[in-house]
Amino acid sequence: MGKLVFFAIAVAVLSALIGERIVNFRRRLLASREVVQNHLPNCVPVKHLENGSEDITILGNGLAFISSGLKYPGLQSADLPGKIFCLDMQDPRMKPVELRMPRNFDVEWFNPHGISVYVDPSDDTIYLFVVNHPHHNSQIELFTFVEEDFSLVHLKTFAHELLGSVNDIFATGVDTFYATNDHYYTNEIMNGYLEYFLALPWTNVVYYSPQEVKVVSEGYYLANGINSSPDKRHIYVSDFFDQNVHVLERKEDNTLVSVKAVALGSLCDNIEVDPETGDLWLGCHPNGWRLFMSDPKFPAGSEVIRVQNILSDKPVVTQEFADNGEVLIGSTVAAPYGGKLLIGTAYHKTFCCDLK
Ligand SMILES: *[C@@H]1O[C@H](CO)[C@@H](O)[C@H](O)[C@H]1NC(C)=O
Repeated sequence: MGKLVFFAIAVAVLSALIGERIVNFRRRLLASREVVQNHLPNCVPVKHLENGSEDITILGNGLAFISSGLKYPGLQSADLPGKIFCLDMQDPRMKPVELRMPRNFDVEWFNPHGISVYVDPSDDTIYLFVVNHPHHNSQIELFTFVEEDFSLVHLKTFAHELLGSVNDIFATGVDTFYATNDHYYTNEIMNGYLEYFLALPWTNVVYYSPQEVKVVSEGYYLANGINSSPDKRHIYVSDFFDQNVHVLERKEDNTLVSVKAVALGSLCDNIEVDPETGDLWLGCHPNGWRLFMSDPKFPAGSEVIRVQNILSDKPVVTQEFADNGEVLIGSTVAAPYGGKLLIGTAYHKTFCCDLK
């Protein structure tokens, strides 16, 4: 009898705990949020970029680099290898060019995720860093971009046990960068939803240099996009699950010291920074539950959040674009250039809109 009662109580406690986790998980994912349309003028889909454009970065001359075709656990994707595109924002035809990959590179398994560009101030060489997940691994590819024939030259692959689940990177030199890890566990079971379901703030930011690789910031539920202030003194990290962007100060030895977190009210992904104003532009998921459910009847929407004066006492957070999934599903990045905004997605279309 005693054993039976104990068993019944154990089952009740366990169900209550699991129930609490589910409620918590749905709340974290903003599962009941309905998105109200807030479109920008003249949004048009960009040709050839209909199978995702997870990350975008635009150079000062208007050249945009775009990673396309991400395959990520739990997300929909096209059954094609990933690609890198280039788009000249100053060209009114808005025609992306697929970059030619080098012969010595495994294109079949190319699975590009976050990207970052570093322009060498001594000779203007354009270095393109790409997070890649070939064979379900996590590594970073370094290319140089050859503008004459729109091709990439592969220089090297960075791999390290601390780069076990990289989502995004921010390059600080020709062989140094910050990287976010979006999982703590890299094995199959925990690398599904279980880790997120338990809400463990165990993901981190790593600094990589040839001399040293180290964890420089930790305590994120899902460290996602990373970028820096125009003067490179502050690093910004978006945590998808806590719906904040974290502001960190860079120290001499490249460690990071937490300054503050700014609430965004959305599950934000990549961060682009306007080089002139210092404003942050974030591609966000207004309803993460729908993003992972991929139910065509309830498509995930899109949302672009802008943060002005982030380093001041009163940052201004505004919604610049929102769609309920009718036209744009799963926005991951928003990059402004010359009065236009390029909005990329995990596996759907890419929009180019006019800014108001
Ligand atoms: C997108 O993916 C589908 C297959 O899933 C393919 O048929 C289509 O050609 C792709 N589009 C582009 C522009 O690559």
